[in-house]
Amino acid sequence: MQKNVGLIGLGNMGTLIAKNLANANFNVKVWNRTLQKAKESGLPYTNTLEGLVLEQDTIITMLSDAEAVEEVYSRILELTIEGKVFIDMTTVRPETAKKLAERLLKKGASFLEAPVLGSVLLAEKGMLTILVSGDEQTYKELLGLFSVLGKEVFYLGDYGISSSLKLINNSVLATFMGALSEAIVLAEKIGIDRQTTIKVLENGAGKSAVLETKKGKILNEDYSTQFSTKLLVKDLRYFSEILDKNNLVSPYFSISNDIYKGTYTNGYSENDFCSVLEILKKLNGIN
Ligand SMILES: NC(=O)c1ccc[n+]([C@@H]2O[C@H](COP(=O)([O-])OP(=O)(O)OC[C@H]3O[C@@H](n4cnc5c(N)ncnc54)[C@H](OP(=O)(O)O)[C@@H]3O)[C@@H](O)[C@H]2O)c1
Repeated sequence: MQKNVGLIGLGNMGTLIAKNLANANFNVKVWNRTLQKAKESGLPYTNTLEGLVLEQDTIITMLSDAEAVEEVYSRILELTIEGKVFIDMTTVRPETAKKLAERLLKKGASFLEAPVLGSVLLAEKGMLTILVSGDEQTYKELLGLFSVLGKEVFYLGDYGISSSLKLINNSVLATFMGALSEAIVLAEKIGIDRQTTIKVLENGAGKSAVLETKKGKILNEDYSTQFSTKLLVKDLRYFSEILDKNNLVSPYFSISNDIYKGTYTNGYSENDFCSVLEILKKLNGIN
């Protein structure tokens, strides 16, 4: 008999995570702030957050940002949670994870910070990369669960490390996506069609998970959301805070950060972050 698991946050990622666990015979129940999504998920759900936490032993949160995590856990911390295990897979600030750990452990619960790398396409296939911080014994006990969701699971020790590395990874993701988009726009401007440029880039210096995942969307200017600009801008904001706190400079990141802020403010906040292509088109006089 597999563990019973609660999942809070049926967004693009949380829904796939819950479904993969249910398909692997975990006894899954879900809760979502917009309850309609829980009803439509086809998974067993509870009407309240509190109901889910009280019924399930292991609870995963997959929410939008640090503010959502703080709000949800402030309700959880009001409950009797001794002996329960919480796993937060949201991308948050390292400090958010550290504070949360302190508060949950004080209440006798266990906590793993476990942000993920990978797109919804990889989430769907159970091929995410999972970065885990927290108690090693708890991590070992949950390896079966993590192996359903990810192909690579890194145990990274102290709280805060996983979130820091996740944010570092997304600074690379942002710059890479921006550089690919820029190359495609510039090639188009000098008369080379998009499909040819993509084919060449994917056999050359542009070969990457980002291009592999996004090439169809870039080709068709399909900005339907897999990972929203809004969430990437949030990650870049958290990464900027780390830089400021440590008095560091990151020139490539600074440019990406501005470009994605521009993508956000130009009406693409809810679209996929590959809509950065539109900003690079505008900058180069393409409508
Ligand atoms: N999408 C990706 O490719 C990807 C990849 C790796 C990591 N991530 C990270 O994974 C996390 C989830 O991403 P996503 O794409 O699944 O996000 P999403 O589709 O925007 O879903 C966000 C979820 O958070 C819930 N939520 C937001 N604020 C809340 C609050 N105050 N109280 C309760 N619930 C709240 C939303 O509930 P409602 O339905 O009620 O709005 C929704 O279920 C983010 O931290 C993101 O940065 C995403």
